[in-house]
Amino acid sequence: MAPHLIVGRILLLTLLLTRAQSEPAASSLSTTVNLAPLPAPIAPTAAMLKPLEGSCRYHPGGGTCPENAPCCLNGYCSDDPRYCSTGCEPKNSWKESSCFPQAFCSNIHEDFHQPKLASSKTFNGNPYQYDFTTDYNAESVSIQDSKLKISMKLDRIPNSYGRPQGLGSVVSTTRFMQYGKVKARIKTGSSSPGVVSAFIIRNEDPGDEIDFEVVGRDPTEAQTNFYYRTPPDMPTDLIDYSNTGKQPLNTNTALDFHDYEIEWMPEYILWKVDDKVIRHVFRNETKDDVGIDPATDHIRKRYPSSPARIQFGIWDGGQGSEGTAAWAGTPTDWSKPDQKYEIQVDYVDIQCYYPGNETQTWPPAGYGPTKIHDGPYFTPGQDNRSDHDTGDSLYNEQENGVHPYVAFYKNPKLMIPTGCLMGLALVVVGTVEVVRRRRLSKVRWS
Ligand SMILES: *[C@@H]1O[C@H](CO)[C@@H](O)[C@H](O)[C@H]1NC(C)=O
Ligand SMILES: *[C@@H]1O[C@H](CO)[C@@H](O)[C@H](O)[C@H]1NC(C)=O
Ligand SMILES: *[C@@H]1O[C@H](CO)[C@@H](O)[C@H](O)[C@H]1NC(C)=O
Repeated sequence: MAPHLIVGRILLLTLLLTRAQSEPAASSLSTTVNLAPLPAPIAPTAAMLKPLEGSCRYHPGGGTCPENAPCCLNGYCSDDPRYCSTGCEPKNSWKESSCFPQAFCSNIHEDFHQPKLASSKTFNGNPYQYDFTTDYNAESVSIQDSKLKISMKLDRIPNSYGRPQGLGSVVSTTRFMQYGKVKARIKTGSSSPGVVSAFIIRNEDPGDEIDFEVVGRDPTEAQTNFYYRTPPDMPTDLIDYSNTGKQPLNTNTALDFHDYEIEWMPEYILWKVDDKVIRHVFRNETKDDVGIDPATDHIRKRYPSSPARIQFGIWDGGQGSEGTAAWAGTPTDWSKPDQKYEIQVDYVDIQCYYPGNETQTWPPAGYGPTKIHDGPYFTPGQDNRSDHDTGDSLYNEQENGVHPYVAFYKNPKLMIPTGCLMGLALVVVGTVEVVRRRRLSKVRWS
């Protein structure tokens, strides 16, 4: 194991232990309709939550990435296209255009006969070669009988609460949609309390999201939701959970396929199940944000509007924080060690509001590293790993949410910095104490 991974693991362990100790006691959650998880055990400061501006932090010396390894991902610099695509941080890269641009939407009807699906470990960033990626735990994603199957099994290690927890996965489109219609025929995997099946449209940064979720607490109910600019590293008390909608479907969604559709337009969002509208939201009726939208010259609304990827996922909400468990149902049934929960997608149909803006070359001229080559790629300060963590990282062994419900400390981007800060704080406090005692004893004995 590479040294940085070992250090990472030690810090992770420190962090998890601290978290376990400061787990808050049961609260009056059941009396409220607020489904937010309990506050994060360690109150984050705004400074801690902000990504480090202009710094690719694990790059030797920090700062922005150098020209020969121009793309910053998860704090590391490289000229590997995987670092330059999804998750690439423009501000911390050599140039903002070192990162590939967001690939724009194209209309597809995918029946999962032979989908162009890559794992995030092998995805080369090219949306002309791949329509979908598995974002982590690729082993649990398969194509069988022309269906996309994303399964969740018991994780090898208990979670940070010391409870056994399932490890699922997420499959995302490689392209971003900004308004449009997405229809998917899905059989949920929510056959036990706690199992969350998700079909969502999501942009992690800024954090816009529109979703369908079925939770195992009631697999006959469709939950709909939307979020506006709530990045995963935002303090959970600032996330607006009040937009949840619930619709009884009078059918068990884990037993049969149904059509779920999100129609996301500049002025409204419709959620449909089996072609029946179950909910609508008008932009003009959402809350006001601060500031004026230069595009319209009107007050900005708290309405999702940024280009977002379409995702399917399954995760275990029943064994994590109390708020999430109360929402998803608990405990998740892991009484049989080989138990498997599986969301299946028969097809997905994507109709873009702005379709067909294709350049046919990737990355488009002016983007990416100055020299695009076939590898091996250069990642300074590290061995040239063939199997590095471009998303499929060790953190996902523990952290498998795909949701704003995921509290700030579940954001892998924050785990190492938080761990480092805490480690550093311990060292500083320890050193000060030792020095103080030595001084005291010197005073006494001299
Ligand atoms: C918002 O727009 C919709 C559709 O255009 C309209 O029916 C509705 O009355 C509007 N609501 C408000 C508060 O203006
Ligand atoms: C394609 O996208 C680019 C960049 O967003 C834009 O400048 C251009 O007008 C678009 N072309 C078409 C045909 O929509
Ligand atoms: C990684 O590979 C590149 C290209 O082969 C090489 O120039 C570089 O020295 C290697 N870096 C390390 C740290 O081994």
